[in-house]
Amino acid sequence: MKFEIKDRAAAGRLCKFKTKHGTVTTPTLLPVINPNKMLISPKEMKKLFGTEIVITNAYIIHKDKNLRETALEKGVHQLIDYNGAIMTDSGTFQSYVYGDINIDPIEIVKFQRDIGSDIGTILDVFGTPKQTKRKAEQGVNETIKRAKESIKVKENMILACTVQGSIYPDLREKCARELSKIDADFYPIGGVVPLMENQNYLDLIKCIIASKKGLNHSKPVHLFGAGHPLIFPLAVALGCDFFDSSAYVKYAQDRRMIFPWGTEKLDNLNELPCSCPVCTKFDASELKKLDTKDVTYHLAKHNLYITFTEIKKIRNAIVNGNLWELVERRANSNPYLLEALNDLNKMENKVWLEQFEPISKNKALFYTGEHTIHRPIIHRIHKRLLDRYKSSYDNVVILPEGKKPYSVSYAKQIKEINEKRGNIDFVIQSHLGPVPIHLDEMYPFAQSVFPTKVDKATLEVTQKVFDEFIKKKNIFFWKEKKTYDEIHESSIRTIDYDLNRISAVADMQFGKNASKALFNGEIRIVKSKKTGKIRNIYCDEKHILSMRAGDGLFTLKMHGGNVLHKYFKYPKMRVIIQEDTVSFIKDGKSVFAKFVIDCDSNLRPFDECLIVDEKDNLIAVGRCLLNRVEMLAFNWGMAVKTREHAN
Ligand code: GUN
Ligand code: ZN
Repeated sequence: MKFEIKDRAAAGRLCKFKTKHGTVTTPTLLPVINPNKMLISPKEMKKLFGTEIVITNAYIIHKDKNLRETALEKGVHQLIDYNGAIMTDSGTFQSYVYGDINIDPIEIVKFQRDIGSDIGTILDVFGTPKQTKRKAEQGVNETIKRAKESIKVKENMILACTVQGSIYPDLREKCARELSKIDADFYPIGGVVPLMENQNYLDLIKCIIASKKGLNHSKPVHLFGAGHPLIFPLAVALGCDFFDSSAYVKYAQDRRMIFPWGTEKLDNLNELPCSCPVCTKFDASELKKLDTKDVTYHLAKHNLYITFTEIKKIRNAIVNGNLWELVERRANSNPYLLEALNDLNKMENKVWLEQFEPISKNKALFYTGEHTIHRPIIHRIHKRLLDRYKSSYDNVVILPEGKKPYSVSYAKQIKEINEKRGNIDFVIQSHLGPVPIHLDEMYPFAQSVFPTKVDKATLEVTQKVFDEFIKKKNIFFWKEKKTYDEIHESSIRTIDYDLNRISAVADMQFGKNASKALFNGEIRIVKSKKTGKIRNIYCDEKHILSMRAGDGLFTLKMHGGNVLHKYFKYPKMRVIIQEDTVSFIKDGKSVFAKFVIDCDSNLRPFDECLIVDEKDNLIAVGRCLLNRVEMLAFNWGMAVKTREHAN
């Protein structure tokens, strides 16, 4: 079984998941197939929407003599005529809806195995949001017990072990932790349908976060019963990989249409605000006139088009690095979702999310409103500014927000002041918070787009960081704001800040005083002839660093790695690998998660790192794809892309 991260954004991931019936790209949606009544066949779904995996119900199949016998004889793939991946559910949901159902928890797992399900589900105990903690705990204990029994009979079927625990975060986390111990391969988060039905997205995200905290990070996570695309971006950003939907049929039967921002009743629509094949073929009045069977079929199709389009948008957003923007935009279209997003502003949630947040992305950060300032990347740079950045002087000139890059647009002012005073730092009071002039090309300071004026809540957050940042400094000059055009006219790079710039970036990126170690010798800086930007840095004629044009951050060369390795104490910046893989790494191969023994808990996705053996000999330098908890959890896929290795 293989689940591998290919790209990532927020705590979300783009993965490949291997099943016996093909590899599935996640995040994705499993349309629910009713074996008694297939409104749209799985085959048609594959053709129309690119569906790679569907879910059907083993309890329903088992209950019906004909279906049961056909499934046992020919397998579930033939039963629903689909040769892609099939997940089956166990009957838990039916027992929640209809009360006691007559089914044995182990028999139903064996049955799923025997009909050839790719992913079978345990008969977990559905924890409702309103139950007492005592009741919820009993359900969790029974669920864990059943999972332990089920794993013994699953054979080569992937077993989905559902996390329950009602709305009690400690129970969720405990359940997730216990289930992770039994080493199943798939983890749904269950018991959340009532929360979604009541649009209680606040409790929903609390359940997701608590479950994720206890789960093994190398396993796929499914949000059971989540079929409305409205919540997909936020759920993906929190680390959910799979969703399943019967909503597409249920809404269609109710003459309702799904849209990314919510649902609309067909009968309330004069026009169809959609250009899917259904909405292009019919106009609203034509659709309304169809008989019930036809309208249901066409609305179900529309609903799936919309749902899969949203999934594709999310996957693009992961690759482009603008998932948080999509989350914020969707939250702005629903007050309950907004309420949930607000909860992520809490420090404990920011701290949790920051661990998974990539160091940089190739797309600029776009402001969408007052939530933007609370993104984990901004929390991180604020923290690093306060912890890692070391200013050169006690005198600071504050410059107002202006055109980027600031060092170009403020070149004239800086030159003037420097000539008169010297020994002075320049800090821009930007919409993101304080930006020391030497960091003006670093992600996300340069790669961010804010309106000319930002909202009050953002100002409050940035002011606080700003005040902390300039504490104990002499603010001796505050330049009146010029218009952007005037500033632009003076756009000439006149001052040589290069050493200060590389020092500031090195400290922010690698840690406090990294610059002291790295630039201890004769420094030669090579710049791009075309852009004038710093490209390569040599110390005593050894190439130690390169600066990436895209995000203004360094890539670490072997010589630079040697210096940092000597300077920083174990385990800082290290990824420790097994002795027997050293020769592979020295051959230029990348580090696979399986061979990582441990690593620095401060390393973040896409951070530069030092690859060392168990005796802390430096083997290579590279770029992490995973953080520590992930490196330790994954037994498959790449952990670090090796860049240069020792001889
Ligand atoms: N479908 C929707 N919610 C659930 C759940 O909590 N458990 C299972 N097994 N299936 C579900
Ligand atoms: Zn449509």
